[in-house]
Amino acid sequence: MAAAGRPMIVDIHTHVYTPAYVELLRRRAEVPRVVRSADGEERVILLKEEVSGDGSNSKGRPVGPQYWDSRAKLSFMDAHGIDVSVVSLANPWLDFLGPTEAVETARKLNDELEAYCASAHASNDNQTDDTSFSPLTQARLFAFGSLPLVPGVEPAAVLEAVEQIQQSPHLRGVIMGTKGLGKGLDDPEMEPVYRALSSAGLIVFVHPHYGVENAFGEQDNGHVLALGLGFPLETTIGIARLILAGVLDRHPDLKLLLAHSAGALPALSSRLASCITHDPHVKDRLQTDFRFYLGQMWYDALAYGPEELALVERVISRAGNYECRDEELPFIQRVNGRADLLAPVAVYPGVERLLFGTDHPFFPPLEGDSSARWPSVDENLDAIAGVPGWGKQERDRVLGQNAVELFGLEAKGKIGLDRR
Ligand code: URA
Ligand code: ZN
Repeated sequence: MAAAGRPMIVDIHTHVYTPAYVELLRRRAEVPRVVRSADGEERVILLKEEVSGDGSNSKGRPVGPQYWDSRAKLSFMDAHGIDVSVVSLANPWLDFLGPTEAVETARKLNDELEAYCASAHASNDNQTDDTSFSPLTQARLFAFGSLPLVPGVEPAAVLEAVEQIQQSPHLRGVIMGTKGLGKGLDDPEMEPVYRALSSAGLIVFVHPHYGVENAFGEQDNGHVLALGLGFPLETTIGIARLILAGVLDRHPDLKLLLAHSAGALPALSSRLASCITHDPHVKDRLQTDFRFYLGQMWYDALAYGPEELALVERVISRAGNYECRDEELPFIQRVNGRADLLAPVAVYPGVERLLFGTDHPFFPPLEGDSSARWPSVDENLDAIAGVPGWGKQERDRVLGQNAVELFGLEAKGKIGLDRR
């Protein structure tokens, strides 16, 4: 719970590998896998850049209790004043498993995640006389569950996982990569999944893993291009495809939360909108202008700079201008938006759709004490503090209040009351 005088901070982008998942990675001979080096340190090898060769990435990255022990997560949260975290399995989720194993692993994982969260309640010493007390009122950890989204899985098995997540009190959404059932987020086979997630009211956290081809050069740049460009561009393409397939027209209530502030999507949304209107194959496909859909989604605030965060916020806020595509309007009004909505409107205030995140345990300090504050976290806190035009109200929303509302974390002034 937030100390008096400071805003509540909720971290919605923070990862775990549960003990069973780490065991699975330890048993594997191929990537993704966990290996123990000669000095006894365990390392996780995940990305295609880490698979082979003798480049700087070939050894993967250190992995330890910060990935699986809820006490380590709570220490990190305490060091940064984070009151509540909504954890998610880190990439590549279950993507590498066959359908039967994916279904079994998802079930086990979701139970593990529920137990992980339940193990971490704030002290309830003073709560014994409170008749409104529910164990969930003091929860500090919630989670996104996992779905067995792999090629060949029976749709019914995915829907059962949605049901399991919905029935698990600490699980408030799902994390999803960009492959869908193997053919991407625009695959018509994903329709029943979107329908189920939408009617369950679960938040769908879309997160990258595969990146895009880093061609045009040969230098070894460590993880910089894969994480700095490949990850956000993958999300950009995956979500552009999802929108272009009409998913948000058919499922306007689907609650998508986009990792890394949706990458380049906000900055490229007008270009994409123009490409659509100039393409005879696509121009009539969507119910409205591409830019409108950006106001229908949520974004983590992992943009690392105040100006980038401001851009995302402005683009979301602008979405209401494109609520209808009225071909009858004069050109100047059409290109600027509806006649009565020429100025940016507050129909979809961008600031209500941005949520603080850390990406913990990735991006630890390279040197020094990792139990101290992490610069990667402070960069994003500073970005939120530095957005031009934002005051305390906007900052408090992005730091925690938006998450409390979106994930249903609060009732009677306390965190985490059961929403069901
Ligand atoms: N690297 C990863 O592999 N995953 C993340 O979420 C962040 C960095
Ligand atoms: Zn992440």
